[in-house]
Amino acid sequence: MNKAKRRTVIAGNWKMNKTPSETTALINEMKPLVKDADCDVLLCVPFVDIAAATKAAEGSNIKIGAENVHFKESGAYTGEVSANMLKECNVEYVVIGHSERRQYFGETDQTVNLRTLAALNGGLKAIVCVGETLEQRELGYTETLLKYQTKMALTNVTAEQLKNVIVAYEPVWAIGTGVTATAEQADEGNGFVRAAIAEVYGKDVAETVTVQYGGSMNAKNADELLSKVNVDGGLIGGASLKAEDFSIIVKAASK
Ligand code: PGA
Repeated sequence: MNKAKRRTVIAGNWKMNKTPSETTALINEMKPLVKDADCDVLLCVPFVDIAAATKAAEGSNIKIGAENVHFKESGAYTGEVSANMLKECNVEYVVIGHSERRQYFGETDQTVNLRTLAALNGGLKAIVCVGETLEQRELGYTETLLKYQTKMALTNVTAEQLKNVIVAYEPVWAIGTGVTATAEQADEGNGFVRAAIAEVYGKDVAETVTVQYGGSMNAKNADELLSKVNVDGGLIGGASLKAEDFSIIVKAASK
């Protein structure tokens, strides 16, 4: 973390978990545990949980995000949700390009870029995910890939709009596997992302962008990961479904 230069953000990514009533219960449990956070606290939840989440989080320091957004404003796109719909539901952030969407739902660097632009143009903040597979890492392509994915995702995003972008470095091999990147690997990956941003927007701008690490971050390893200068927070899957564990990560980010 480097709190003097950029915001630290701890974001839960609930994926396809929790019903609306379970959402209310979990957020009510979390609220007192994270209320003294010295970092931004965010929960990205399934579309159907957004109403319950915003209601439960009202008046607290917990912000609510969505897990995807379509790139058009409206139209014949069955099953999709647009930025203005999310905005009207008091959603502040949206996760874009998560590796599960890339793997299972045909998301490409181009659609990630289109969704990012739609989110920003629609007044939402974007958490854009990038990350290499184990095979790509073993072939030595991590830096090339992270820089490519970052630049592709940010194509046509202005420096002004970049203020509303968080990039999350999530090595695919570390997501939901219990295998966490070492703090050094996380710092290095986040550094590649920041370097890519610097190549496009300049070093000074890149220094202000929040770059999260995600992939099996938990109550035990958060302290060490967040001690690295390039790790400005976390995108947390499994551990964000447990109030106690999530709050321990928030506390680690509040130091
Ligand atoms: P995980 O998920 O913490 O369960 O590994 C992280 C993510 O997919 O964002």
